[in-house]
Amino acid sequence: MPKKMIVTCLIFLVLGLAFHFGLRGCAQSEPKETSEQIQLPQPKQESEMSLEEAIMQRRSIRSYQDKPLKLETVSQLLWAANGKTGNKDHQRAAPSAGGLHPLDFYIVAGEGSVQGLEAGVWHYEPLKHSLSLVTRGDKREALMQVSLGQRQVGSAEIDLIVTIEFSRTTKKYGQRGRRYAYMDCGFACENIFLQVQTLGLAMCPIGAFNDAKVSEVLALPETHEPALLLSIGYPK
Ligand SMILES: Cc1cc2nc3c(=O)[nH]c(=O)nc-3n(C[C@H](O)[C@H](O)[C@H](O)COP(=O)(O)O)c2cc1C
Repeated sequence: MPKKMIVTCLIFLVLGLAFHFGLRGCAQSEPKETSEQIQLPQPKQESEMSLEEAIMQRRSIRSYQDKPLKLETVSQLLWAANGKTGNKDHQRAAPSAGGLHPLDFYIVAGEGSVQGLEAGVWHYEPLKHSLSLVTRGDKREALMQVSLGQRQVGSAEIDLIVTIEFSRTTKKYGQRGRRYAYMDCGFACENIFLQVQTLGLAMCPIGAFNDAKVSEVLALPETHEPALLLSIGYPK
């Protein structure tokens, strides 16, 4: 084969590989999941507390009873955060700039802290309303240590972690997309906060943590950047 042809073939091969891996790099990344999947119960559409009462009573609470949560409760909280609420996939419980939904939600559960859920880090799949196991084992203590030792993180029945994949929003809106992604996070978290109130639970938002170490403890995909932790349990 002439030298010129070999060089041309090599160039095409390199370009092909770069294109292939480049595209994969741009694709929405998914957490490394084990085969373990849990279908969540259907969320309820009514509660005993009015919206106004929930707003009035909402407070950040930092100490919790040692009392397990039901799977129904976790289902309700995740639905309020990002559950499907319309016929189209992007129609969710909380609004999102451009319907691009840059947020992911993880539950960190201990042994027996949620009935029917193994201790571990679980990823919420909003379109299936299910949980997928990411990592086994109780990570709450380790999470507390990388959150400036804040005790509520370790003593909560669950910690809910909200992550942002900025590229989902910045690919459309450029740098302004970062601002939108944080706003999306605020909308979703307030939904969770008010749902917490209606369920008689307590919650504290946690913004003070070491980003890189939280990602490491929870084995988060590189592109899922932790934005806010929510410690949740029954109030003491
Ligand atoms: C973005 C954000 C980050 C927060 N980070 C923490 C935190 O790291 N630790 C903490 O104890 N409370 C944290 N909080 C809770 C605030 O301290 C609390 O909302 C504020 O004191 C007002 O009290 P309230 O929520 O009871 O109305 C945070 C709240 C928000 C909105």
